[in-house]
Amino acid sequence: MPASRRGSGSVTLPTGQTLAFHTRSSDADDLPHATKKRMADHLRKYESLFTLTPQRMRMIVEAFKDSLETGLAKAGQVVPMIPTYVFGWPSGEETGNFLAVDLGGTNLRVCLVTLEGEGKFEITQSKYRLTEEQKQEEGQVLFDFCAECLKTFVDSQIESGVIRKDCLLPLGFTFSYPCLQDRIDHGELIRWTKGFGASNTEGHDVVAMFRKSLEKNKVPAEIVALTCDTTGTLIASHYVNPRTRIACIFGTGCNAAYMERAGDIPKISHLGIDGNAEMAINCEWGAFDSFEHENLPRTKYDQIIDETSNKPGEQAFEKLISGRYLGEILRLIICELIDEGVLFLGQNTYKLEIPYSFDTAFLSLMESDPTDELLMIIGIFTHFFAVETTLAERQFFRALAKLVGKRAARLSACGIAAIVSKMGYLDEGCAVGADGSLYNKYPGFAERIHEGLQDIFGEKGKNIVTYHAEDGSGIGAAIIAGSSQSTHLSCREVLSSPL
Ligand code: BGC
Repeated sequence: MPASRRGSGSVTLPTGQTLAFHTRSSDADDLPHATKKRMADHLRKYESLFTLTPQRMRMIVEAFKDSLETGLAKAGQVVPMIPTYVFGWPSGEETGNFLAVDLGGTNLRVCLVTLEGEGKFEITQSKYRLTEEQKQEEGQVLFDFCAECLKTFVDSQIESGVIRKDCLLPLGFTFSYPCLQDRIDHGELIRWTKGFGASNTEGHDVVAMFRKSLEKNKVPAEIVALTCDTTGTLIASHYVNPRTRIACIFGTGCNAAYMERAGDIPKISHLGIDGNAEMAINCEWGAFDSFEHENLPRTKYDQIIDETSNKPGEQAFEKLISGRYLGEILRLIICELIDEGVLFLGQNTYKLEIPYSFDTAFLSLMESDPTDELLMIIGIFTHFFAVETTLAERQFFRALAKLVGKRAARLSACGIAAIVSKMGYLDEGCAVGADGSLYNKYPGFAERIHEGLQDIFGEKGKNIVTYHAEDGSGIGAAIIAGSSQSTHLSCREVLSSPL
């Protein structure tokens, strides 16, 4: 046991869990701990593995740019560059009431959105946490769950008089997994990402599947548009900030979308779309460098994550960056040091040995711990993993978290830079709407992206500015549904208005 305690307290984590901590006064206690010298040696090794030099970043940007071009030129490429059939920017004058369903990597969200014009809106929503079991069950069962949640939400809105009974409501469906689209209300799932594995869904039209569940549950909603969170973010962000040219999600998964000239999408030239028309492209950049692994600096920890995932070889870029994996990268490093006898000798480390037990939210807390004694880090290790740490060990863990978090942000900068340089946005500059738990909650993530952009482009990198985006999966889906409604049904006629 520690020699003395000087304080205790608790904090609430973004996951909703409560983290208790207590302080210990000295590094020396009766457990054998890692020596500072040994940790310093290891830290140097990890620094060289996880640090990205500006030169290396520029090489990644070049390869990334090539992949984007190849994806636009031919169907079925590693980075699929999906034409979304979302044409042009919103005018900001879209109005009306819409339902939005957002099936994300962590939560299911159902929303009622009122677009009020002039870039203004109102949103009412309910959120449901998805269990790991739900992510693996039969696809139709997953869509049934989405329909049931939507039914409960719509019923409650009808009961409170917000929605009229017996109306068919237009619905924007945000499905944030790569889908091949040949029109706005259709999408064939190419592959699951972010650990999902629901059977009988890959290769199927997810709109048709969800429609079936809506009918089964008698939900008064008509899917008029399928979109992914990134495309929705692009549209929603531009609705409020017209300088936006690119949108990114850095959350459980990662991705980007931007607006492309139809004439510069050779793989759809046969459709005869006016070359000057603009269409949003869902890059699905999380797939960059998949299978061949030629361009990204993968460490052995990244390789373990990949090999033990349900989709080995896939989403190579995403696995180095997104919130689903960063905690696991750090956990694997710690486990290696336990195996080598460097850390936690004489302590029971079984909790640390459970895959994915180290939440990425812990890395955020470790990096943001404001106390000299690193009290939050004590709390994480004692409360969740039942191991005692010294101050030197906690400093070491914080330095490791920083390496992992910084690499993720700098790689994200490479992706943004690839689109900027492909589209020639550097001189004029542009705004990049960004969303997702990592971008919003990880301390310094945005600053590190900006630093990375300057390392790649020099001073001009300052022209590219990321900012916290509007809610793409809710507002964006509603705007997209609104733009496509005329071809489906007249939404405002079937909805009570105003809310
Ligand atoms: C998905 C994308 C999504 C991104 C962010 C990725 O795993 O493939 O469609 O936009 O996660 O949620």
